[in-house]
Amino acid sequence: MTSSLPEKVSITEICPRDGFQNIKEWIPTELKIQVIDLLIDSGLRNFEITSFVSPKAIPQMADASSIAAHVLQRMKKEKLALDAVALTPNLRGAIAAWEAGIRHISYVISASAAHNKANINRTHQESLNDLSAIVATYPDMHVTLSMSTVFGCPFDGGVPVSQVLWLLEQALERGVRDVTLCDTIGVASPIQTAEIIDAICEQFPTLDIALHMHDTHGMALANILVGLQHGIRRFETAAGGLGGCPFAPGAAGNAATEDVINMMHRMGVKTGVDLELELKASAIIRQHIQQNLMSHLAGSRSYAEHTFWQRNS
Ligand code: COA
Ligand code: ZN
Repeated sequence: MTSSLPEKVSITEICPRDGFQNIKEWIPTELKIQVIDLLIDSGLRNFEITSFVSPKAIPQMADASSIAAHVLQRMKKEKLALDAVALTPNLRGAIAAWEAGIRHISYVISASAAHNKANINRTHQESLNDLSAIVATYPDMHVTLSMSTVFGCPFDGGVPVSQVLWLLEQALERGVRDVTLCDTIGVASPIQTAEIIDAICEQFPTLDIALHMHDTHGMALANILVGLQHGIRRFETAAGGLGGCPFAPGAAGNAATEDVINMMHRMGVKTGVDLELELKASAIIRQHIQQNLMSHLAGSRSYAEHTFWQRNS
């Protein structure tokens, strides 16, 4: 089985967006930056650093431009090749992202109509119209489709694979070349994950796919492993296992970055990340942002126990 595993994978750190957006109490911008800087220091190079959304919908993301300015400045100063992505729900968000210096956005549309409405107050057609406008306005903007509720919707329940394929086709017709499949409420099973990936690969063989799995039902790591075995090489994870969508009732955190890195390294798959350094960011999160982490390595297991475990593995 391990012979089918790749030499390396790419991890996109999404705690600064998916993780922080779900924290009710305001996180000072300097603290967000401290966490982001530690994550950069650990070797992570792909980030969803913030989102350009309505501050009425997500007050925690009101400092999007300041976060972007810091990351872009650090990239310039240290000549860092970072992929600094911002999530946007509409043309207005893409304009704000571009003006803040961002050149790669994840454009969010939910596979289920009900969650698209609850999350961003848009029909599919309205979201697709804005996607067309973004691509036309900013031909040099890299637009990744971030497809929510691919594996289940808090309102509609099951989401037909045909619906996912239809939405993908619409996005591809508008110039999208890569997609992130999000299990927004963390209900996917490994078999379902495999079936959806296989169905998409069959219909769109050149599409670049990433997985974004929440851990509500405890299957995020299993789903990521299955994704790996089915050819997926990019995974979105959140330090500390933070995460959740305020407009998706019942959703728990993301697969923790440290747990995914640990799993990959223990299987001989490289990530380019120093796990010990990454855990420093999770420790800050635990100390100052959220005490109870879903992360296995940074949550219930103490740092000392972890290093013991590392030495003996
Ligand atoms: N960034 C900041 N403000 C925005 C915005 C954006 N991307 N898009 C719209 N707005 C502002 C408008 O200017 C308007 O402001 P005003 O009330 O001061 O005039 C207000 O928000 C309403 O605009 P409208 O286009 O009618 O938006 P809406 O009320 O239908 O809300 C969204 C739509 C998309 C802006 C909102 O639902 C949203 O930001 N959702 C994000 C949800 C999210 O981030 N979920 C988690 C990540 S998946
Ligand atoms: Zn998420």
